[in-house]
Amino acid sequence: MTGPNGAGPSGVDRGLTSYGDEGFSRFLRRAFLASSGFDADDLDRPVVGIADTSSDYTTCHREMPQLVESVKRGVLEAGGLPLVFPTMSLPEILLSPTSMLFRNLMAMETEELVRAQPMDAVVLLGGCDKTVPAQLMAAVSADIPAVQVVAGPMLTSSWQGQRLGACTDCRGMWARHRAGELDEAQIADVRSTLATTGGTCMVMGTASTMACVAEALGLSPAGTATAPAATGDRLRAGSAAGRLGVAAAKADLRPSALISEASLRNAVTVLMAIGGSTNAIIHLLAIAGRTGLELTLDDFDAIARRVPLLVDCKPSGSGYLEDLHRAGGVPVLMKTLEPLLDLSARTIEGGTLGDRLAGVEPAPSWQTTIRPLDEPLGPPRALAVLRGNLAPDGAVIKLSAATSELTVHEGPAVVFESPEDVTRRIDDPDLDVTPDSVLVLRNAGPVAAGMPEAGSFPIPKKLAQQGVRDMVRVSDARMSGTSYGTVVLHVAPEAAIGGPLALVEDGDVIRLDAAAGELTLLVPDDVLQRRRERWTPPPAPARGWRRLNAEHVLQAPQGADFDTLRPAIQGSVGAPTE
Ligand code: FES
Ligand code: MG
Repeated sequence: MTGPNGAGPSGVDRGLTSYGDEGFSRFLRRAFLASSGFDADDLDRPVVGIADTSSDYTTCHREMPQLVESVKRGVLEAGGLPLVFPTMSLPEILLSPTSMLFRNLMAMETEELVRAQPMDAVVLLGGCDKTVPAQLMAAVSADIPAVQVVAGPMLTSSWQGQRLGACTDCRGMWARHRAGELDEAQIADVRSTLATTGGTCMVMGTASTMACVAEALGLSPAGTATAPAATGDRLRAGSAAGRLGVAAAKADLRPSALISEASLRNAVTVLMAIGGSTNAIIHLLAIAGRTGLELTLDDFDAIARRVPLLVDCKPSGSGYLEDLHRAGGVPVLMKTLEPLLDLSARTIEGGTLGDRLAGVEPAPSWQTTIRPLDEPLGPPRALAVLRGNLAPDGAVIKLSAATSELTVHEGPAVVFESPEDVTRRIDDPDLDVTPDSVLVLRNAGPVAAGMPEAGSFPIPKKLAQQGVRDMVRVSDARMSGTSYGTVVLHVAPEAAIGGPLALVEDGDVIRLDAAAGELTLLVPDDVLQRRRERWTPPPAPARGWRRLNAEHVLQAPQGADFDTLRPAIQGSVGAPTE
C-alpha cells in the first residue's frame, strides 16, 4: 500500500530522515527495526502507531496497558503492524496548577510525534479529562487516519448504603464535611470508596463527556465511549479500534474526512443531551478551530435551545456511566436524538452516521437512563451562553446543574483577585458576604493561569454552616465537569487582558439573567472608564511554557488554543495567524 503521505509501501518508509541518501535512510530505519525483531514481511504491512498515555500519575489510565494489548491484537488480526509509543499524559487530579495549562502542550507533542514517526494510522488512547481533547486536536492537525479510544469509566461503589462515584460525590461529601455533617473518621472512610477501580470519573464529567463527544464526532468506534475500564467491553473496544486503524490506513480515511459541520453539530447535540461538561465547549471550539470550520459560542446556544436533557447521569442527574452503558450508550442515545442529527456525517467505520444508526434498536423500556425526546429528564439549554457588559465575548453557565431560583439573581459583588485569594479569604469569619452576594473570581483565565477549574469555589464556611449550599459565582476560570452550582464561567475577555471582569469592585451590583442570556455589571460606563484608566495588567510569566502560554493562548471562545496552532480560517472565529 501507499502511506498517506505517499512515499512508500508502509508507514515505515514514509517521511524518511534526510541524510541526503534515501536508500541509506530506508536501510538504516529497517536495520534498527530489525533489532526489535521485525523483518521485511512485518514492515511491509500498514503501520499503526498506538499513542499510549499510561502513567503512574494518571490513575484513571491504570488499566491502559491491557487496553494497549487489545489494540495491538486488533491491528495484528487485521494484518497491520502495531507500534506503541508513549506520549505525555495529563493526570487531572495530580497536575498543578491545572491540567488545562498543558492541554495544548500535549496536543502539540502528540501531533508532532504522529507526524514525525512513520505510521499509516494512529490509535490514540486517552481518557482522563484533557488527554482526549489534546489527542483529537493533534489528530485533526496531523490529519493521518486516526481512531480515538478512551480508557473507560470506573465502576461505582457505595458507602453506608449510598452509591458513590468520582467526582460529583467527592464534592458533595466534602461539602457535607465542611458543613460539619461528616466527621474526620467518616470522611476518611468515604475517601477509600470514591474511586475504586481503574478508569475515568464515572459521572458525566469532562472525561465521560469528551468520550461521548469523540464517538459522536465519528472518531471513536460506535458504542465504545461508555464501556467501563474494568470490563471485557472495554478490551473489545480496543481490538475493534486496532482493526479499524488498519482499515482506515488502507482507505486513507483521515480526520479531515470525518470532522465536518455535520459531525460538529451532532457532537454539540449529544453534549446538550448528556448535560455534559462546560469544558467540552472549550475543547470542541478548539477542535473545530483546528479544522478551519466555523463553530461559535452562538452555535452552542442555538443547538442547546432545541435539545433537552435526556441522560440521567450526575451531576445533572442521578446515575453513573455504567448505567448509560447498560442502557446502550451513545448509539442508543443518538438513535433517540436521530430527528435532531445530521445522518450524513461520516464515521471511522467508513460509512455515515445513518449507517451506524440503521442497526441500532431504540432505547429499551426497562431502562431509565436514556429518556425519550418527548419525556426528557430536563428542559433544553443544559448549557447556556451569556453575554453583557461583564462578558462582551461571552460566558457559559451549566443550567442543568444550577439552582433554578438563582439563575435570575441580582446581588453585590465580593471580589477575589485569584484562586489563591479565594483559598486565603473564603472562610474568613469577617468576610463581608451574605447568601445574596455574587462571588467574583478573576485572574484565572487562559492567559493569567492556564484556566484552572477554580470557578466552582466553595461557599464561605460561615454560610455553608447555616445551610447555604449554592451561591452565584462568576469567573474567567473553568469548573470541573463533575461540579454543580450556579456558576458562571469562561468570562471573556478574561481579566488579565483587561476584560471588564478586571474592573469589578466589592459591592458593585451584578445581575445574572440566564433566561435572557445576560450577565450585567450595573455600574455606569463612565465609572468603568475611569477604573480602566487606572488598571494595570498582572505581571507576565518570565520563562518557559508558561511564558509561551501567556503569549499565544487564545480566549475561551476560541477554545483557548494557541494562535500558532490554528489554520487560517474564514469567518468570525479566532484570529488567523498563518
Ligand atoms: Fe481522571 Fe476524573 S480524574 S477522569
Ligand atoms: Mg475534571
